[in-house]
Amino acid sequence: MTSYFCGNQNTDMKRILGTIMMTLLFAFNSTADEGMWLLHFLKDQNIEDMKKKGLKLTAEQIYSINNACMKDAIISMGGFCTGEIISDKGLFLTNHHCGYDAIADASTPENDYLTNGFWAKKMDQEIPVEGLTATIVVRIEDVTAEINAKLNDNMSYEDRQAAIRKEMKAIKEKATKDTHYDAFVRNFFEGNEFYLFVVERFKDVRMVGAPPSSVGKYGGDTDNWMWPRHTGDFSMFRIYAGDDNKPADFSQENKPYKPKHHLPISIKGVKQNDYAMILGFPGSTDRYLSSYGVNHAITLDQPTRVEIRGKKLEIMKKHMNQSDAVRINYASKYAQVANYWKYFIGQTAQLKKNKVHGKKSKIEEEFAAWAGKEDDRKKYRNVLSDFEEAYKVEAKYSANKVYFFEAIYQVDFFNHVFGAYRMRGMLDDEEKLAALKEKNIPAFKAMAEEWYGTKDLPTEKELVINMLNMYAKNVPADQQTDAFKKLAAKAKGDFTGMVEKAWSKSIFTSKERYLAFLDKPSGKTLDKDMFFQVVSETFGAFQNARSNPESTEANHKLEEANRLFVQGLRKMNPDKKYYPNANSTLRLTYGSVLDYSPADAVTYDYVTTHEGILQKREMTDDKTHEFYVPQDLVDKINEGDFGEYGQDGKLIVNFLTNNDITGGNSGSPVINGEGHLIGCAFDGNWEAMSGDIFFEKNIQRTICVDARYILWIIDKYAGAGNLIEEMTIIK
Ligand code: ARG
Repeated sequence: MTSYFCGNQNTDMKRILGTIMMTLLFAFNSTADEGMWLLHFLKDQNIEDMKKKGLKLTAEQIYSINNACMKDAIISMGGFCTGEIISDKGLFLTNHHCGYDAIADASTPENDYLTNGFWAKKMDQEIPVEGLTATIVVRIEDVTAEINAKLNDNMSYEDRQAAIRKEMKAIKEKATKDTHYDAFVRNFFEGNEFYLFVVERFKDVRMVGAPPSSVGKYGGDTDNWMWPRHTGDFSMFRIYAGDDNKPADFSQENKPYKPKHHLPISIKGVKQNDYAMILGFPGSTDRYLSSYGVNHAITLDQPTRVEIRGKKLEIMKKHMNQSDAVRINYASKYAQVANYWKYFIGQTAQLKKNKVHGKKSKIEEEFAAWAGKEDDRKKYRNVLSDFEEAYKVEAKYSANKVYFFEAIYQVDFFNHVFGAYRMRGMLDDEEKLAALKEKNIPAFKAMAEEWYGTKDLPTEKELVINMLNMYAKNVPADQQTDAFKKLAAKAKGDFTGMVEKAWSKSIFTSKERYLAFLDKPSGKTLDKDMFFQVVSETFGAFQNARSNPESTEANHKLEEANRLFVQGLRKMNPDKKYYPNANSTLRLTYGSVLDYSPADAVTYDYVTTHEGILQKREMTDDKTHEFYVPQDLVDKINEGDFGEYGQDGKLIVNFLTNNDITGGNSGSPVINGEGHLIGCAFDGNWEAMSGDIFFEKNIQRTICVDARYILWIIDKYAGAGNLIEEMTIIK
């Protein structure tokens, strides 16, 4: 009796609590929306929840392999950003910072599109962007079973990898046979699952429009990764196709691509809690990173990256301030280095502030307890100690690896030398040399024209000196090669004199000498060039760090531990919906328009308006300042002619959602419940910079340009009504 009564009361309590919880959930409508979901699982995994949040579409309207659907309008732009098709003539929208490299490449001090913007008022004014591709996903398939059929638990690491590679290749070949499609298989959930992506890759992409940087990059590095924001971070391109509407190499004869679907643009505006979803190509996240990995990032890798990048930025900035040509030629490089310089500063700070190490440890404790329980969980019992051991080894080599990438490989001059390093192996063999001369040397020559035409040698020299000084000082001496140590000993802590001397005769420091070398490529010439030596030696040290027996063992251990950790977590919480880490494949995230509170007593509104632009402008009259706004734009704003793009006399500039995005999503469409474009995603917020490693439900936000600000700039500021006419506008 008693027990019955108690039981009953308990059940009632649960029911009441449940109702209260549900009410709370619905009241806020939006516990933040973690998850980068795969389109081929939407129907089974998410669609009901999406509808509850306000989606009015079916799963097939978003992803279908038979009918035109939303995915047909989503583009992977060059593999590094996202774009969305917004007209039936292949016009696509992306971020200004995604188009930045193309805009800078097309710019000269006379035609400075970075500073002044660019608008093609007719199609024949559009500027071809060499090498830029636009890729649309045709279909996605889960091929886990096919690959797993070739694997078993007793395989060695190498055998397992070889079997996976072989099967991936076979699947790809089968999927593309007799088609013009491309395809690839990627691994998901840290190697536990595999999906095939069949894609159509377009190769004729042209620049159509970009606002001045004072709109597109408004707030510069100061506002980057921050809210409140006032940036018109958008630009536009167009896909061209052959007569058959299929991908074709660039040709004047190509026609604007006719997409299966393009996104209508809504100018109805956004409200708090409105449904919002984003489709795009997030590059990489590390949501299953262990506490050991977090520790490694905070104490080793990230601080090193920040230090190296900080120095590179200081040097580039100095030279860019002295010449317009250098400013334009280094703009894109500078922006790339600066973006992740600030990212790593923020990530390190917020991993600490948001106590991510502790959150990970807690998950790991639960995992260990679970793994210890049943006999069939034995294979999960070494996972945590494997993490610990592997990171101990990784720690030894962190500086070496990070330095090679950041201070050597990603310095343009060294990267240029690296090209010659790649041909070194072919120079001592007559047959190979002949093949090299015939096949590769013409391409090397063409690249040399471009390289020497756009690089500033004094900037490069200062970078080289400083990077070598830092490398010699910070990479553990016992990991530097003997030959490098000899050079460093000669330099006595400062490479300036040695670099100066070598600079005057190296084959890499003058176009004439380099072209002469390409005419008569010889191993001997390369071997005695100091910069060739530096590149081969630092690369040698890096390879050793990566593939000495101890490191190899640690890497395999780490990879295997990651795989088992994720596999175990999913078994441990069978009812929880897991999503895989980002890996540059098409994903969807859904949630709502939402404000946030970054600190006690502080709330940030979910929109910013034109007033903020004018307020920030007050800070400066210096035309090169990050908060400078050109006078004609100030005048246009003051005229207040926001027309149908305005809302209560204001122009909404940016807004926030709680969607789950990361780098690579840049340029992604923000879409409402009806399937209409309401904005273009371009950034994340400072307080949640740790978000790629642990999603912060309460404070993580996506920063979007409001579609109405984009249209207002195009229409009223740039006077490019020709582009508005192509679009489908929902009023
Ligand atoms: N943080 C943004 C991203 O990685 C890029 C923003 C570009 N703007 C800037 N001021 N650097 O997607």
